[in-house]
Amino acid sequence: MTQTAPISRPTDGRPDADPMALVATGLHKRYKLGSETVHALRGVDLAVGRGEFVAVMGASGSGKSTLLHLLGLLETPDEGHISIGGTATVGLDDDALTEMRRRSLGFVFQSFELIPNLTAAENVLLPADMVGDGVAGRERLARLAGILGIDDRLGHRPDQLSGGQRQRVALARALINDPVMVLADEPTGNLDSRTGREVLRLLSHGVAELGWTVVMVTHDARAAMEAQRIVFLRDGLLVGSVDARDVDVQTIIERTLAE
Ligand SMILES: Nc1ncnc2c1ncn2[C@@H]1O[C@H](COP(=O)(O)OP(=O)(O)OP(=O)(O)O)[C@@H](O)[C@H]1O
Ligand SMILES: [Mg+2]
Repeated sequence: MTQTAPISRPTDGRPDADPMALVATGLHKRYKLGSETVHALRGVDLAVGRGEFVAVMGASGSGKSTLLHLLGLLETPDEGHISIGGTATVGLDDDALTEMRRRSLGFVFQSFELIPNLTAAENVLLPADMVGDGVAGRERLARLAGILGIDDRLGHRPDQLSGGQRQRVALARALINDPVMVLADEPTGNLDSRTGREVLRLLSHGVAELGWTVVMVTHDARAAMEAQRIVFLRDGLLVGSVDARDVDVQTIIERTLAE
């Protein structure tokens, strides 16, 4: 356990740290398309505690990616508030939002989004270098590489890695700044089911053993089962929340598709 201390629970030794990784209230998002307005989110409340793993499920078009973009401070809500690790984002200018995004959030995407001409190590270290934390980043890189099983692939470029290895590199990049929360949009969407499950197991291990906090959007009921809690989005509204231990795959599929 001591070996992983620097990337363990963010609240360690910080008794004043807010126990909530995320508090989002009343989120609305509208997109204008010509003369039409798409009301993508219609009043979403979501709170995620530190050390929680939450899966967001919903049919195509239900607003999952929109929600993740708002939580990731990549877009601003038309209404509502978001606070990350106890810090409110309302009223922050673009520079402050960017700084918060870099320091407090980690992102994992379906398509990995690694930079092709950089090595795995260089990709992982980019967010640390961006916040001027390169030295600590290099120390965390070694530990993360061990946890994620990519020690022997750090000198490889993305095209020299398998899909599962690429996603583990992307996961290391998401975690390199010891974020309050990792946001993952369909992280297993481009992986075969076995490889996808391996990546999810690493995520849930990190949540259980190291205190990572993860919000993951997924279409895949089996992937959602690896989370602790599953919330369901329908037409821009959160319509339910279940403990993943209390449901089976079939129930999740039915709830996701229910009208
Ligand atoms: N930039 C945009 N401009 C206009 N409409 C948008 C934009 N982004 C999303 N939408 C619309 O908002 C709604 C929610 O989209 P969103 O991408 O969040 O759905 P999703 O649940 O992620 O779907 P999927 O499972 O297919 O990825 C959809 O009706 C979509 O067409
Ligand atoms: Mg989407």
